[in-house]
Amino acid sequence: MAPQLAWVGLGNMGRGMCKNLVEKGALATPLVLYNRTRSRSETVASDHGSSKTEIADTIGDAVKASDIIFMCLGDDAAVNETVDSMLHEDVRGKLIVDCSTVHPNTTNALEKKVTGKGAGFVGMPVFGAPAMAESGQLICVLAGSKESCDAIIPYTTGVMGRANICYTDQPAGNATLMKVIGNTFILNMVSQLSEGHVLAEKSGLGVDNLHAFISTMFPGPYAAYSQRMIEGDYYKREKPLFGIDLARKDARHAMSLAESSGAEESMKMLAIAQGRLDRVKDEIAERGDIPSVYGVVRTESGLPFRNQSG
Ligand SMILES: NC(=O)c1ccc[n+]([C@@H]2O[C@H](COP(=O)([O-])OP(=O)(O)OC[C@H]3O[C@@H](n4cnc5c(N)ncnc54)[C@H](OP(=O)(O)O)[C@@H]3O)[C@@H](O)[C@H]2O)c1
Repeated sequence: MAPQLAWVGLGNMGRGMCKNLVEKGALATPLVLYNRTRSRSETVASDHGSSKTEIADTIGDAVKASDIIFMCLGDDAAVNETVDSMLHEDVRGKLIVDCSTVHPNTTNALEKKVTGKGAGFVGMPVFGAPAMAESGQLICVLAGSKESCDAIIPYTTGVMGRANICYTDQPAGNATLMKVIGNTFILNMVSQLSEGHVLAEKSGLGVDNLHAFISTMFPGPYAAYSQRMIEGDYYKREKPLFGIDLARKDARHAMSLAESSGAEESMKMLAIAQGRLDRVKDEIAERGDIPSVYGVVRTESGLPFRNQSG
């Protein structure tokens, strides 16, 4: 019999991942939805219909009703708090999958706590922007016991994702270790793009000409973030796609890993990126998005934060 699935956390990433589970996950029963702010569950449920989704009033209800519980939440505190609530229920024989980006120590501690209660646990952070979650093009990084990972793989490639990186039979925290290191590439990429565009503007080449090079040479995330920078999306958007506090959390986790493994002296680019993320927060607070680093880098060279009037 197909397992009953639940999804906890309907933010920018969770919404798209749910959409693909519902549409392509071959679910035999409605996907159980839980989100701290109930209105988000209602919106997702109305998008998919009552034959495809069902709202749970509490995390406990979602857990009781389900065999596999996915979650995608903001940060370590949210994940710890949510798993503690899950563990008030009898979870023996169930499987909990965390798709959030958290510190590997958090993931390893969760794996110990959850498996200690007789449930399986998989760390499964994902790479890709919300648009990729929506289109089922994420890269899923899985770690945990083989039995637990095998139970999740049918919902990854071809459903929520386009590729998997599997650390089967390794500590669940190896998935978030990979994710945190991988995210340093994203943090440094937006800094690099910002510096390139500032130099293109100040030197007279012009950002459109540089963007043509970036799109040709580095299609994919470089081109997408470059586009959002030159269009002014980095300050115009009301609600961020990759909230600045999430990006700052990723930078903190990477720095903490560097410190605990004796690599902090080598993380010079990360330190610069981290300082710029903090300044985005000072400048535009919760509206800050990861490409808003462009605004900060512009001000470093005497340009206004905004690249367009209005
Ligand atoms: N955005 C990206 O580009 C991206 C890409 C890859 C991975 N990620 C990672 O994926 C995770 C989710 O990111 P997102 O962009 O979807 O974030 P988001 O849009 O800010 O959504 C966060 C979700 O977590 C919930 N939440 C936050 N604090 C909570 C708490 N204390 N208790 C219960 N629920 C809580 C929120 O519930 P409410 O609706 O009630 O606020 C919401 O459902 C993060 O770990 C992020 O680093 C993000």
